[in-house]
Amino acid sequence: MPHAPRSAVWTAAAVSGSILALAGWASGASTLAMTLALPLAVLGGRALAGRSQGGDRPAADAAEPDRPAIAEALLANIPDPVILVDRRAVVIEANSAARALLPNLKLRHPLSFALRAPDVLDGIEEVLRTGASLKTLYATRVPTERAFEVQIGALPMPDGRPGGQPNVMLFLRDLTSARRLEAMRVDFVANASHELRTPLASLLGFIETLQGPARNDGLARERFLAIMRTQALRMTRLIDDLLSLSRIELREHVAPTATVDLASIARQMVDAQAPLAGERGAALALEAPDGPYPVLGERDELLRVVENLVENAVKYGGGTVLVTLSREPDAARGPSIALTVRDDGPGIPPEHIPRLTERFYRVDVASSRQQGGTGLGLAIVKHTLNRHRGRLAIESEVGAGTTVRVILPEAPAEPAAAAAQ
Ligand SMILES: Nc1ncnc2c1ncn2[C@@H]1O[C@H](COP(=O)(O)OP(=O)(O)OP(=O)(O)O)[C@@H](O)[C@H]1O
Ligand SMILES: [Mg+2]
Repeated sequence: MPHAPRSAVWTAAAVSGSILALAGWASGASTLAMTLALPLAVLGGRALAGRSQGGDRPAADAAEPDRPAIAEALLANIPDPVILVDRRAVVIEANSAARALLPNLKLRHPLSFALRAPDVLDGIEEVLRTGASLKTLYATRVPTERAFEVQIGALPMPDGRPGGQPNVMLFLRDLTSARRLEAMRVDFVANASHELRTPLASLLGFIETLQGPARNDGLARERFLAIMRTQALRMTRLIDDLLSLSRIELREHVAPTATVDLASIARQMVDAQAPLAGERGAALALEAPDGPYPVLGERDELLRVVENLVENAVKYGGGTVLVTLSREPDAARGPSIALTVRDDGPGIPPEHIPRLTERFYRVDVASSRQQGGTGLGLAIVKHTLNRHRGRLAIESEVGAGTTVRVILPEAPAEPAAAAAQ
């Protein structure tokens, strides 16, 4: 980082006091400010202690680290943009995150050359006028849409001279991912409500018909009750899927510790899905030579993974559905086991593939709904595999079928076997 003019160098003491003030003013919003406050307070405390003990004692200084250099290194390593300007809004100091965000930012040049944000510039004036800190927003559209919360606060002069002119510090906090998460949450609630409302509306419609015009129609009653049962089952399935998703997410950071054989899980699911495949005219087969295929996993969760992949291949693919197990000598990630489900159905257009694991995402909503799908299957698969430290790969070619691969780390040899060796 280039050195600022001497008068504007942030001594550790000045920086620590100001950042402590900013941390309080941010009222817990910025963990970063809190994180910084402690080491800087220590630096500042040492600086003050050095002064009160008679200043520049050579013995103490020899042992002391170079405080301005440490403060500068700390500033350079803050991942969020931090900018210091003087009272004319001319840049005195900026860390590398700030320079990466604002390529036109130059020391001793007005901030407005690099940051065209009237709210921020007005904010600086207001802070200088009132002395009170404030927060405002700064949004960029190019090269990508990003949003930042800008905390603006006055810094006293580094040497604390009474009557000195304060500088102003700008601390930018990236809100982009928080906003994206918030948008996803809103979408999720809207989607879940919509998915529940559709069968509910149909149920209410049938109830009203049965109470009114079809009251004495025995035949209609039987037919309507069958439809109502299907709709109620769909709602139950949706709620079950939502609950399993949140259960898996809750435990996502806790990797399973039991060793299970993926081949026996695949066998159980292929047997269970054979009737469905038969009904749809699909041929379902399993190839698992040289088993067992041990992975660290939760049997029930892995059963759901294989169930959804096989069910998808049978429902949306068809033809011949082949489930294969194999060993993957992966040098980078260690020995792994791959479970592949391949169908030779219509395939999936490439633009849909990256979105398939999003909640409620379906290529053809009507066809999925008609088959009782909730669009949560692959989202559950993805989160289950995250928990199992595994990966999911979907390859598809329109007209040639789809191949879905699940790759899981191979379980290490059992402790008993290892001990015997
Ligand atoms: N093998 C496949 N061939 C073609 N399309 C597929 C295949 N597997 C998945 N899809 C598409 O991906 C979508 C999402 O699958 P996902 O398993 O997440 O939901 P779903 O099957 O619709 O519902 P659920 O799994 O809850 O029953 C499906 O609706 C379908 O459009
Ligand atoms: Mg599915």
